Amino acid sequence: MSAKKPKKIILKVDNITVQRPFGGPILENISFDVYEGEFLSIVGASGGGKSTLLRSLAGLFPPVSGKIYFRDEEMRAPRVEVGLVYQSYALFPWRTALENVEFGLELRNIPRVKRRQVAVEALELMGLSEDKDKFPIELSGGMQQRVAIAREIVNKPKVLMLDEGFSALDVQTCRQTEEQLLHLQAKFKMTIILVTHMLEQALALSDRVIVISDGEIKETLELDGGKRPRDIDQPEFRKLLRSTEALIRPTPKIETFVRDLAGV
Ligand SMILES: Nc1ncnc2c1ncn2[C@@H]1O[C@H](COP(=O)(O)OP(=O)(O)OP(=O)(O)O)[C@@H](O)[C@H]1O
Ligand SMILES: [Mg+2]
Repeated sequence: MSAKKPKKIILKVDNITVQRPFGGPILENISFDVYEGEFLSIVGASGGGKSTLLRSLAGLFPPVSGKIYFRDEEMRAPRVEVGLVYQSYALFPWRTALENVEFGLELRNIPRVKRRQVAVEALELMGLSEDKDKFPIELSGGMQQRVAIAREIVNKPKVLMLDEGFSALDVQTCRQTEEQLLHLQAKFKMTIILVTHMLEQALALSDRVIVISDGEIKETLELDGGKRPRDIDQPEFRKLLRSTEALIRPTPKIETFVRDLAGV
């Protein structure tokens, strides 16, 4: 039997605390490693700190204590190897899909012809060749999300992080985008970090799932290898889904609101 290759750490989160600019902590004493080439999902109830964590990993929201490393270097600012697709996509409405994708390359002073070529390839990879000259308002939510992904992958990131974005998609578009993510992971050995409300999706796609609640890691699930997406109709999968669901409690505010509505 061949020995298992040791996993290389690409991001190291070392005991970080992230604070509101004028208030208490959002994340407290969080530590975990992200391995090269893995598909990691982060799940948890709304307001638990998932987006904050991604923004910290992207170098946009530095911790007040603890450190984040990309390979051996401390993350002090955003870097091109770590890309983030925002919860809101954040496309420029006055730019076409192609021009949106070219934006980061312009900032990096990539020559015009090269810029266009790379952007066209990225849109093609996301299945958007036909729509490259449309403005965001002319694109569906799913298409906008794929433009936002294309805008990140032109930078050839080692780590691609996605904050939600699946919530508004129909099942078919959602599956299509999932396949595209798995393809990016396989073809470019990209590390994917996905924040999602859809637990089933996290369990179907990931190597590991981190459950966050109230700014803390509640659980880390190591899932077995094999074909992705996993078969969500398998009894073992349903069992895993149910037990993980129990770890994710809705925010107390929602529980109280629902109780009040029910007149309990
Ligand atoms: N810049 C900020 N200033 C003050 N509070 C903030 C800031 N960013 C986030 N927060 C607070 O931190 C907490 C966690 O927010 P965050 O957006 O990380 O949650 P989330 O898990 O992504 O939620 P959702 O699932 O709804 O997207 C919330 O209470 C939010 O109001
Ligand atoms: Mg969020």
